Amino acid sequence: MSSSREKVVQLIELRNKAKLGGGEKRIEAQHSKGRLTARERIDVLLDEGSFEEFDMFVTHRCTNFGLENEKYLGDGVVTGHGTIDGRVVYVFSQDFTVMGGSLSETFANKICKVMDQAMKVGAPVIGINDSGGARIQEGVMSLAGYAEIFQRNIMASGVIPQISAIFGPCAGGAVYSPALTDFVLMADQSSYMFVTGPKVTKTVTGEDISTEDLGGATVHSAKSGVSHFKVSDEQEGLLLIRKLIQYVPQNNLEDPIQTECNDSIDRVDDSLNDIIPENPNQPYDVKDIIATIVDNSEFLEVHTHYAKNIVVGFAKFNGMPAGIVANQPNFLAGVLDIEASRKAARFVRFCDAFNIPIITLVDVPGFLPGSQQEYGGIITNGAKLLFAYGEATVPKITITLRKSYGGAHDVMSCKQLRGDLNYAWPTAEIAVMGPKGAIEILEGKKISEIEDPREKVKYIQDKENEYKEKFANPYEAAKYGFIDDVIEPRNTRFRIIRGLQTLATKKDTNPPKKHSNIPL
Ligand code: HXC
Repeated sequence: MSSSREKVVQLIELRNKAKLGGGEKRIEAQHSKGRLTARERIDVLLDEGSFEEFDMFVTHRCTNFGLENEKYLGDGVVTGHGTIDGRVVYVFSQDFTVMGGSLSETFANKICKVMDQAMKVGAPVIGINDSGGARIQEGVMSLAGYAEIFQRNIMASGVIPQISAIFGPCAGGAVYSPALTDFVLMADQSSYMFVTGPKVTKTVTGEDISTEDLGGATVHSAKSGVSHFKVSDEQEGLLLIRKLIQYVPQNNLEDPIQTECNDSIDRVDDSLNDIIPENPNQPYDVKDIIATIVDNSEFLEVHTHYAKNIVVGFAKFNGMPAGIVANQPNFLAGVLDIEASRKAARFVRFCDAFNIPIITLVDVPGFLPGSQQEYGGIITNGAKLLFAYGEATVPKITITLRKSYGGAHDVMSCKQLRGDLNYAWPTAEIAVMGPKGAIEILEGKKISEIEDPREKVKYIQDKENEYKEKFANPYEAAKYGFIDDVIEPRNTRFRIIRGLQTLATKKDTNPPKKHSNIPL
């Protein structure tokens, strides 16, 4: 019988063995690809010394293809909990050094265990993905394991924040777990996601395409929108997750945490009074406005590279986290199209699910016209954003900066969509459409009858001026109470902060139902 001291030594030896995952050679191979190991990633992600590991001694139970002779302590995924800035988070980190991070029955059980505990405790789950997918030798057990995880992702959605980092391969059905989470982050040139890889793509469709072009970070951040964040390396990605956690509450029953703010709440910024160009067709960068009004100019943009005509992200106002949605005049004049509508709708729904107030900055000329948009379902997709705003019960503050035309005016968190505070700058133009379009429709017949070109131009000009006088201002909407106040741009930060303070106790509900039927 060994002494208790020997037993402790044995424990330490087992722990050290588990920590080596698939062994030193495979760790070297992982490093040679510029990638960290599963444990190194956890070390960067969590507060120093806070990680408590579960299931370090788990091994698989498979006996197919001689696998009973190939066992690794922990079975290819490191799981447990720790803290980020002192707040509890649950983590799983797939270990590529063990059979390519492939998912076995026991591997899935480990992930399910942390997800179940996270739900009981009410804490975020962060999953780091680096895996060859289903462990081929385990057959249907592996497929079942994925489905167990998917079901938990679905149940946790809207209850605890779920964040996925992709730091290697993530292929086949495995992609659906990250896709079910709130945020997906990918590292440039080293992570990829696809349902079917380049080889199968070539066989089935004849298309010859590289891994990077099919499912790399750039593709998913700019084209598909699957990835919310593209980072240059893993270190940057893990630090970004730490930052993201600062803006979200632990769960849907808590509010986001207000932190101390050293940026004056009544800081006025005179530059805002002149930021809107004289020419209504001239673009400007709405991110300059965001930087001016938020605490310390800190803005964590989400989906930076996707649907750039709308900007979404997190910031703080007097230390209070808020989500910002802003049309971007600098890109496609800030028009709403299919992608922008989907991007913003998903963000609004995240904020609403997790009690994060929404600040909307409006400068939108309308919806993008054309057959491409109509065939692609701009009706259904635009309705997503409309639905998301109308359903949201968190504090909603809308500031109309310049244009707010037509259906897009209604969609962008207008008063009737239960907007709590709807402010406008004096430069706001709230109307059914812009002057040019309106006069073409209203006066088209008359204009075509004028023969003298000079007279024609003058007539159009006069009519446009008349229209502008009537509608290209915020006062027509303010007259009906659709705009609560017309504010001086330089006071915007203060007005938002006071609004958020006032609305902090806001209570609003939707009628009881099983769930809504958002136009998917
Ligand atoms: C078992 C696997 C594995 C897998 C990799 N390995 N993938 N073992 N099941 N799915 C093992 C390899 O045999 C190898 O073991 C080690 O992991 C490292 O793999 P390499 O191929 O040497 O690494 P690399 O060259 O970097 O290539 C990585 C890879 C490739 C691109 C991921 O391994 C690969 O294509 N794997 C298969 C991917 C796949 O088709 N998976 C199934 C997807 S379908 P040794 O001992 O030699 O080091 C799926 C369905 C999910 O996942 C359904 C959910 C609903």
